[in-house]
Amino acid sequence: MEKLQLSLKLLFLVVSLLCHDGKASISSIGGLKMEELLQEKPSQNFTSTKFGSDTSFSLSSAYLCSQSGRKENDKIQRLPGQPDGVDFNQYSGYVTVDPNSGRALFYYFVESPRNSSSNPLVLWLNGGPGCSSLGAGALTELGPFRVEKGGKTLYRNQYAWNAEANIIFLESPAGVGFSYTNTTSDYDFTGDERTAVDTYTFLVNWLERFPEYKTRDFFIAGESYAGHYVPQLAQVILHANTNTNHTKINLKGIAVGNGLIDYESYSRGWLDYYWTHALISDEIYIGHKSNCNFSSPAPPSDICRQYQDQVINATKDIYPYDIFAPLCNSTSSSTLISVFDPCSLDYAFDYLNNPAVQIALHVDAATFPYPWELCNLTMNGSWKDRRLPILPIITELMESGIPVWIYSGDTDGAVPVTSSRYAINKLGISVKTPWYPWYLQNEVGGYVVEYENLMFVTIRGSGHFVPSYQPARALALFSSFINQKLLPSK
Ligand SMILES: *[C@@H]1O[C@H](CO)[C@@H](O)[C@H](O)[C@H]1NC(C)=O
Ligand SMILES: *[C@@H]1O[C@H](CO)[C@@H](O)[C@H](O)[C@H]1NC(C)=O
Ligand SMILES: *[C@@H]1O[C@H](CO)[C@@H](O)[C@H](O)[C@H]1NC(C)=O
Ligand SMILES: *[C@@H]1O[C@H](CO)[C@@H](O)[C@H](O)[C@H]1NC(C)=O
Ligand SMILES: *[C@@H]1O[C@H](CO)[C@@H](O)[C@H](O)[C@H]1NC(C)=O
Ligand SMILES: *[C@@H]1O[C@H](CO)[C@@H](O)[C@H](O)[C@H]1NC(C)=O
Ligand SMILES: *[C@@H]1O[C@H](CO)[C@@H](O)[C@H](O)[C@H]1NC(C)=O
Ligand SMILES: *[C@@H]1O[C@H](CO)[C@@H](O)[C@H](O)[C@H]1NC(C)=O
Ligand SMILES: *[C@@H]1O[C@H](CO)[C@@H](O)[C@H](O)[C@H]1NC(C)=O
Repeated sequence: MEKLQLSLKLLFLVVSLLCHDGKASISSIGGLKMEELLQEKPSQNFTSTKFGSDTSFSLSSAYLCSQSGRKENDKIQRLPGQPDGVDFNQYSGYVTVDPNSGRALFYYFVESPRNSSSNPLVLWLNGGPGCSSLGAGALTELGPFRVEKGGKTLYRNQYAWNAEANIIFLESPAGVGFSYTNTTSDYDFTGDERTAVDTYTFLVNWLERFPEYKTRDFFIAGESYAGHYVPQLAQVILHANTNTNHTKINLKGIAVGNGLIDYESYSRGWLDYYWTHALISDEIYIGHKSNCNFSSPAPPSDICRQYQDQVINATKDIYPYDIFAPLCNSTSSSTLISVFDPCSLDYAFDYLNNPAVQIALHVDAATFPYPWELCNLTMNGSWKDRRLPILPIITELMESGIPVWIYSGDTDGAVPVTSSRYAINKLGISVKTPWYPWYLQNEVGGYVVEYENLMFVTIRGSGHFVPSYQPARALALFSSFINQKLLPSK
């Protein structure tokens, strides 16, 4: 735990407020020499071996630039196919996070129709790693619009989260969606640590562009692999708030949905979920359990791999993100738990690849000559440090008084509810409000258990993408989260 903190500390301490070249001296930090800090790294190769030792990497975050006039340029006049009567402001564009290599992150920002000047600011992050918060989060989950079949027109999402907060959707890291770098070798460092620092750099610059949000209550929320991004970013913010002269970000809480927060719990919970939901045989279950070591960072043995393949084979026609849902391609007429159109992501893909949409969003065609993709699978495959421990960070956040919310759609087979429960159990924290059902419109929306500084909420009948599958329940959850209130009992 201390080791990761140290490496993150290293990262933010080198941030200095330079606009153009970022060449600051970092040979000595807080009395510790760089070499000593580097020796504190974990002995396992979970992290990039080059991390911290590469000057351009560390200094890439040494950047804060005047953003005057850029907010106006980012204002979206009108999105192609948007419905009439849009009553809130939309912005999108790039924020440079490293001018030397030409690395810039793309965001889409929606204000609230009402009370936007007092509502909190929320950063939403999708996971992958390598997936887009614009295509998934904004256009199929919690954003103000969804894309109609055909990919040309938009309709209002009745349960959009910007009813209660001003929301930034960030495509992160560079290489995801419209975010890019002009220096290909940047991608050699793509991983959790780079992502956390770039996102922090994005935020402090974005706040220069939108200074009215500098002191606003700020929340971070995300799902899936953002179970890494959200706590890691929160930790960087906490440390930066006390150790730099940057804008102090008014962090009030974090939320992680169906998130990957502990590898061992994830693997164990995933297998148990498949077995208890009748997707695999006893033989595969027992064989997998007794031949795979979930706590080992080593690559799986051949026999373990064979059992993994059997699980995949047995469930290949099940949509993992919502095990009771039809596939996008299927003509199934079975009764659905949710009415979410399983082809929605395809519509978002078509929409975002329309050149007129890209122009309206201020996408720079010169820097973005290739098609927009929902997930960058190359990036997912070459991620540097996906096994970094997250639970110690969650403990640190809780001890620092940052409320942590962990929620879970209970029909997700990708990062199932069992995985979240095993992970929380590992924290060894005491219950403040015992497990109870929460209600929305006289129905059980799910269950809640409150610990000291940690809330665990389930969303009944929801797959991985909670705001897609159970939009009303998701909005109730979000509202409770930003108001830091328990969900309603009967
Ligand atoms: C970590 O990686 C380096 C370089 O690839 C290698 O020399 C070293 O043996 C590895 N350490 C461990 C503990 O696997
Ligand atoms: C990347 O390169 C293009 C073309 O030279 C340039 O227009 C753009 O500003 C660069 N991006 C950044 C973030 O520096
Ligand atoms: C806006 O804020 C006022 C004052 O806090 C509150 O009474 C009102 O309900 C809010 N409106 C909406 C739509 O949230
Ligand atoms: C990313 O890679 C991991 C590990 O191989 C895999 O489990 C996950 O499904 C991938 N994510 C996406 C969005 O493809
Ligand atoms: C912050 O600013 C103060 C006053 O200008 C200065 O003394 C201090 O060294 C600065 N701290 C950092 C970390 O830059
Ligand atoms: C599983 O891996 C962990 C960590 O490498 C190790 O401590 C443990 O002994 C292993 N368990 C078995 C049953 O091999
Ligand atoms: C895959 O599953 C089918 C049954 O659906 C079975 O006939 C086949 O043997 C399985 N293949 C492997 C490699 O396990
Ligand atoms: C989609 O449906 C077509 C026509 O029935 C079929 O040929 C194709 O294999 C299906 N694709 C998937 C991914 O299921
Ligand atoms: C996806 O990420 C890889 C690096 O992992 C990068 O080389 C590639 O350009 C990215 N693809 C797109 C479409 O941005």
